[in-house]
Amino acid sequence: MNEAVKEVLVSENEIKEICQRLGAQISQDYAGKELVVVGMLKGCAPFMMELIKHITIPMRMDFMQITSYHGGTESNTVVFKKDIEMNVAGKHVIVVDDIIDTGKTITEVLNIFKTRKVASIELACLLDKPEGRVVDYTPKYVGTIIPKAFVIGYGLDFDELYRNLPFVGVLKEEYYQ
Ligand code: IMP
Ligand code: MG
Repeated sequence: MNEAVKEVLVSENEIKEICQRLGAQISQDYAGKELVVVGMLKGCAPFMMELIKHITIPMRMDFMQITSYHGGTESNTVVFKKDIEMNVAGKHVIVVDDIIDTGKTITEVLNIFKTRKVASIELACLLDKPEGRVVDYTPKYVGTIIPKAFVIGYGLDFDELYRNLPFVGVLKEEYYQ
């Protein structure tokens, strides 16, 4: 185990089972529909690559990268680092992210997709931290719910490190204090 990890929260095997379950559910829910899976870089990468292996219906994929600045007020500014390349009008979109915490970033992203006249928009996330929620939002496809701890691994970073860990673990407090 990595020395920065206090404890493993979601094991590699559990993540595999999560992706099998969510992939099967998505395949059933979107059968006969034009599906576009949009990953939020960079945290989505390991989760999305495992998840799409278990999606058995035709699908397209694309990626988006944004930075979200939360000011002292409600006004959030989402800055695009990379936009998707596809025209998603009339398509059924699933946004894939690593974790939903406050819900602010994903709310902005979902609003962007709504202005693009998608047929439907849902979210698939590996982790949900509902205790951190500031904006009321319940994702449809959730891997697992976790307590309010800072986690790393399987795409999740601390200062861009640890995204490569094959599991999700709690970061030791001494690393960020
Ligand atoms: P929020 O829902 O707008 O607060 O933003 C969620 C984003 O914050 C995620 O996509 C992560 O990049 C980051 N994040 C939230 N909680 C954690 C964590 O525990 N570890 C690593 N990144 C996190
Ligand atoms: Mg992120």
